[in-house]
Amino acid sequence: MNRNVWDIRYLFEPDGVAIIGASTDSSKIGHTIVDNIMASGYRGKIYPINPRGGDLNGIEIRTTIKDPDIGNVDVAVLSIPSKFVYEAVKECGEKGVKFLVIITSGFSEVGNSSEEKRIVEYATDHGMRVLGPNIFGIYSANADMNATFGSKNVLKGNVGIITQSGALGIAMIGKTAIEGIGLSAMISLGNKSDLDESDMMEYLLKDDNTKIIMCYIEGVQNGERFLETLSRITRRKPVIVIKSGRSKRGAMAAASHTGSLAGSDKVFDKVMRQAGVIRADTLDEAFNWCKFLSQSPLPRGENVVIVTNGGGIGVLATDACEKYELKLLDDVRLMEETYGDATPEFGSVKNPVDITGGARAGDYDKALGAGLDKEGIDAVLSLYCETSTLNVENLVKMIEENHHRYNMKGKPIVFSLVGGEKVARAIETLTEKGIPIYGDVDEAVQVLGALYRFFRFRSEPAEAVAEVKLDIGKVRGMIKRVKDDERTFLLADEAKELMKVVGVTMPRSKVARNLDEAVRYSNEIGYPLVMKVVSRDIIHKSDAGGVALDLENEEEIIDAYQAIMTSCRAHDPNARIEGVEVCEMVKKGVETIIGARQDNNFGPVIMFGMGGIYVEVLKDVSFRSVPITRTEITRMIKETKAYPLLLGVRGEEKKDIDGVIDTIIRLGSLISTCREITDIEINPLIAYDQGKGVKALDVRVLLSKEKGV
Ligand code: ACO
Repeated sequence: MNRNVWDIRYLFEPDGVAIIGASTDSSKIGHTIVDNIMASGYRGKIYPINPRGGDLNGIEIRTTIKDPDIGNVDVAVLSIPSKFVYEAVKECGEKGVKFLVIITSGFSEVGNSSEEKRIVEYATDHGMRVLGPNIFGIYSANADMNATFGSKNVLKGNVGIITQSGALGIAMIGKTAIEGIGLSAMISLGNKSDLDESDMMEYLLKDDNTKIIMCYIEGVQNGERFLETLSRITRRKPVIVIKSGRSKRGAMAAASHTGSLAGSDKVFDKVMRQAGVIRADTLDEAFNWCKFLSQSPLPRGENVVIVTNGGGIGVLATDACEKYELKLLDDVRLMEETYGDATPEFGSVKNPVDITGGARAGDYDKALGAGLDKEGIDAVLSLYCETSTLNVENLVKMIEENHHRYNMKGKPIVFSLVGGEKVARAIETLTEKGIPIYGDVDEAVQVLGALYRFFRFRSEPAEAVAEVKLDIGKVRGMIKRVKDDERTFLLADEAKELMKVVGVTMPRSKVARNLDEAVRYSNEIGYPLVMKVVSRDIIHKSDAGGVALDLENEEEIIDAYQAIMTSCRAHDPNARIEGVEVCEMVKKGVETIIGARQDNNFGPVIMFGMGGIYVEVLKDVSFRSVPITRTEITRMIKETKAYPLLLGVRGEEKKDIDGVIDTIIRLGSLISTCREITDIEINPLIAYDQGKGVKALDVRVLLSKEKGV
């Protein structure tokens, strides 16, 4: 079936909408939906459907959607009990409906997955897409269509909200209206049986009236597609995501070792950041950001100035600027030149600019006006602490006017008012006027921090993905041999062979079947060496006397070979001994861990952290998704405590960070091109001094349980 994704506009801008289950009983959801569609001013045709017929708000109720008098129906909203939905969907198919909005609960969310599947299969086969089931509906400002059973009072605007939680979504419609946040769309996803967040984002990306996207999600099923969609949006429009499940209990327990370090929420967090998403922890945060980002122009540079009438809140804001990664302008000459005339003698023109407790609205006008046209001042935080001179009307007027003149000028400004009853009144009035205003300095700085995160992300130069071309045919051949042997893990020598193909350096070693070979191979590899017995019957080699370290020359090799054979035979006379492995003795360096795995949600994911035996205790690891750029890999490394060690401590030389990055790129390329490999872990990967490379000491590789490759 040819499915043009842009067809999704029929869902948001339909010519005709049928409401199946439209009831004259005003307590029914089907009734409310018709009411809401009409109240929102929808200009297309509305077709209420109910076998009883009759009249609803002056519109004829048709007894069936198949009524030939019914024109084109792009969207059918179904609000009938679950047992009737399938038959109704069939009728929609016959009518040529394009989108089904299934309000009804009682499907996969309560274990009734088979019925949901049956409905989606039918819909798909008949050219229909399904939103839901188990949703409160959809609001689209482009069609003035409120096809939800939420509040009638929706404020039209430029924020698109996608929500997986129905109840929260309904609450959000109400909350956005009182917060003065205008919506371009509000979509309830429910069970995501067919359409999901990525489909909705495709529309919101192309919709010029959507300036910012907010998404509440509990879990992503097709994370790879989500990331691909985000990669086309986040440089153009800010995307704010709230996801529940930060807590340990909320996070999924992942199966493998690398997975257990991963903890799904940590992966989610890092991967979202990598994709340019701004993640909010609370609804309040998300709403604050939405309101500000949907109105504010973008800064042109990093220099922020604080203007305040109180030293205390100035200091609080300064602290918060560090927390939210904002850079305060520290050019003393520019500050003096700009704010000198607007600041009393006993004030301060250093950043924060303190226009002192006696400042009135006019004094703010003067100070804010001074920074308005100044090159080199890129954003302003205007803070006001309640004083005895406060006049609410003047304050509101000052903020409103400066908000508008800064917006006109294209320079961001955020206001925070701190105080009692009078300040509360001012905040209320400004909120009613739709002006972003914050009663807490921290919140005000945080919203500016969110704007800067978007600004910086979109200003980053585009960079090619870091990957290497691998001999995948060879890799697949190796995997096939392992699978033919009915194993889902690679033996040490197989892992070593794989690393050779991938281009990851491991210590040189060779298996010798007799003493002559042991001597020959040792001379080839070079000293010092380690010798280990090779026997599938001897698991704990050291306990059996099967390991000799620090072998410096030929004589020591001969002695060690004989000693190993004698003690292993004494340990287990029946053990099959295939020979010994002679292995380069590895020098010390910084121990790191590198992993790559197929994440349940996001597909190929890579990991880096401090390596060695304490890795699981320290859990000092970071994650990213693949494809990835070199800059992003460097960021991942910098997030861990291994980074200062790699830079060299106490006069040590800097380590070979490029070698570490190169190894990560190679594992990333392997895991993304070869999906049969589920987990790879190198621990430790030893990083030597710069230019001296890295060495993988131990490599573990797991394969998927599926048969064949
Ligand atoms: N075609 C047209 N109309 C039909 C059909 C049909 N095939 N079958 C029944 N109807 C009519 C009924 O006769 C009734 O009309 P009436 O009032 O004139 O008799 C109307 O459709 C509705 O049917 P009811 O049996 O009365 O069902 P009711 O409206 O009580 O419930 C509903 C239907 C709302 C879909 C319910 O089954 C349901 O799933 N409720 C949960 C919805 C929900 O919460 N969704 C998630 C939202 S998000 C959140 O969590 C808030």
